Amino acid sequence: MIPWKYSKTMKYPNNNKKTAKFLAKTVLDLVGVDKSIDSTFCELFGGLGYVSRELKPYVKNIIINDIEVYSSMINTAYMSVWIPRHIEKLLMSLNKNIGFKTGLIYKYYSSEGKITTPCFSPENAMKIDTIRTQITAWHKLGVINFDSYCYLLTSLLEASVRVANIQHTFDSFNSPIHKRMYLPLELLPLDRKDDSGNFHIQRSCAKDYINKIEGDVLFLNPPKSGCNYHINYHVLNTICLYPKVEQVEMFGKFNKINYKFKHTPFHTKRKYLENMEFILANAKFKYIILDCNKEICEPLHPILSKYGEFSILEHLYNIRVRDVARYRLKTTSQKHSYFYLLEKKGY
Ligand SMILES: C[S@@+](CC[C@H](N)C(=O)[O-])C[C@H]1O[C@@H](n2cnc3c(N)ncnc32)[C@H](O)[C@@H]1O
Repeated sequence: MIPWKYSKTMKYPNNNKKTAKFLAKTVLDLVGVDKSIDSTFCELFGGLGYVSRELKPYVKNIIINDIEVYSSMINTAYMSVWIPRHIEKLLMSLNKNIGFKTGLIYKYYSSEGKITTPCFSPENAMKIDTIRTQITAWHKLGVINFDSYCYLLTSLLEASVRVANIQHTFDSFNSPIHKRMYLPLELLPLDRKDDSGNFHIQRSCAKDYINKIEGDVLFLNPPKSGCNYHINYHVLNTICLYPKVEQVEMFGKFNKINYKFKHTPFHTKRKYLENMEFILANAKFKYIILDCNKEICEPLHPILSKYGEFSILEHLYNIRVRDVARYRLKTTSQKHSYFYLLEKKGY
């Protein structure tokens, strides 16, 4: 069993895990809690889909879009309606399957591989390779359907994060090596609920997809740093795309990945404003909630007013931070998050 101090969920920059309950309540105040009402919520920059997970029991139609492959896998796993009971038996059998297969993960990301600072121990890398191959084999043989395939793959992604030699994201590898890397990889059941509803997971660029959807509430949490998330999460994409991965080329001490599409369409302030205006103008939704720090958002005020009436929502919550000054490891501090709620004209 993995010691509790390492059993953490995936770190994901600017995710809405801590604010999901607040946001879900805001959405339900707008559309009502009755699932028989035909309301539609969409997360256009879905990431790990925390807000949608909260809304799953209450909103009939949920759309989650994100450009990354791992995001669509994870969201399919958490949002699918029903997962067969025997999935836990399959998880157990994968855990017992001690792998000695050396595949892509061993080759690119283990200390025996080409990488300068390793991401996985050779044993865990072989185990990931073996489990990944087995999941595909079961899917091809019809032992599992697509939703179960995404479930098992997501469990593998989460397990890989727990034993990865990383600080925060996959582009900051620990050197010297963190002892977490030597924990045995173990697949765990996902913390999810079966629930009826229409859940659609999409992998498109937000700018292309916005014209194809309509609904009641649109939630926008676009990337706030200039880089695409696959720069940091290439390991997860490699596990998902396996074995159809192009040559993984890493460079530098921290194994940065060499990608053609480094920047998001939101990478400069000018591009951010331009593209957000495009999304706001084309959104066929009555309400739009925008997750945004005040600094980026202030220049958006004239644009927001052009498309309707907006208000600012403030959410205050506790976070645990390192208290270096007092030699205490963790202390509680309060954090403010701001969201913009726009009621779009003409809807
Ligand atoms: C701040 S995160 C969203 C976090 C999410 N709300 C959560 O709770 O996990 C921004 C997301 O936007 C995605 N993204 C970046 N550029 C995109 C684009 N052009 N179209 C769609 N998604 C994009 C990233 O992959 C990332 O998952």
